[in-house]
Amino acid sequence: MIDKLEYTNKHELIYLDQTLLPLKQKYQKTKSYKDVAEAIQKLRIRGAPLIGIAAAYGVVMGVHHYKTENRKNFEIHFYKVTETLRNSRPTAKNLFYALDRMTKVFEENIEKEFYEIEDLLLREADAVFDEDAELCKRIGVNGSELLGEKMTVLTHCNTGELATGGIGTALGIIYTAKNQGKEIFVYADETRPMLQGSRLTAFELYENGIEFDIITDSMAAMLMKEKLIDCVIVGADRIATNGDVVNKVGSYSLAVNASFHKIPFYAAAPGSTIDFDISTGEEIPIEERDPEEITRVNGEKITSDKYNVMNPAFDLVPNELITAIITEYKIHYPPYNFGSLKHMFQSYIQTLRNEQEDTE
Ligand code: MRU
Repeated sequence: MIDKLEYTNKHELIYLDQTLLPLKQKYQKTKSYKDVAEAIQKLRIRGAPLIGIAAAYGVVMGVHHYKTENRKNFEIHFYKVTETLRNSRPTAKNLFYALDRMTKVFEENIEKEFYEIEDLLLREADAVFDEDAELCKRIGVNGSELLGEKMTVLTHCNTGELATGGIGTALGIIYTAKNQGKEIFVYADETRPMLQGSRLTAFELYENGIEFDIITDSMAAMLMKEKLIDCVIVGADRIATNGDVVNKVGSYSLAVNASFHKIPFYAAAPGSTIDFDISTGEEIPIEERDPEEITRVNGEKITSDKYNVMNPAFDLVPNELITAIITEYKIHYPPYNFGSLKHMFQSYIQTLRNEQEDTE
């Protein structure tokens, strides 16, 4: 397992800087919640579940390193910390899911001693981390049912160990299938402009002994036409209750191409990615990122700064293009109605939590 993130007893966060992979494996260390927000914004820590986990620890650090005797100031500071982390990136639901959990713990225990509140916040951040690892395992087991004995899978962006608290979502399914003895070959989209596919997914697949080819994003349709792809599996940054999925830009194009070529298109994500408050994907904010991500490669200019650039980080895959959505609970088929499953997902997490507390 890749060591991607650790909260130490010195109240610092050590994380693998994902912008430098695979050429450098460098760990950064910080005691500042502002650094955590910046690391998320700059993609040093990325992937929907992992940014939620990092933000939860960011809250713990923000509280720990603030010294006051005054309860009002303590409260004001808490909301300043969570607000800074909330503003780091707008799309992935998991970020807000984790921060909402931290806020709930804070508000329910506001009368307690400061050190007790801090302990409870740390327990909650650990729970978000540990639960995500468990959810990944279950997604892996559920999703691997969709894979035959010998398959080629196309994936986009990075949805594995580097993006989650555990083995990953879409990639977790591939790892699970491989451990079950299935023969899986992966085509990894390079994922312009930040190259999460050719840098991060390739790194992980190599480390895990999975055979793969990196392809440019624009090659996918041709490979589908040539019957080289059995299915597409992607992750998700946010899912609406009608099953619309927002994921890394390029996912929509893959879904359209898969539908045209009659290839199954699957999305895999934990319940923490589902936004139970919104009914369609049109309501999901799509992050627009710095034009320099497109006009520069490793800081080197590759085109003129005079030219206009559009750089949305995500796109919307409408539910009618999605063959199935795999969660920790089960494989969901259309018509999707996640709204009716909210309590089921919540009680699932509660059961997991009870199980984890029993083993402590
Ligand atoms: O911009 P990124 O690298 O954070 O985008 C990541 C993705 O789009 C992933 O597919 C998604 O977060 C799911 S990760 C399990």
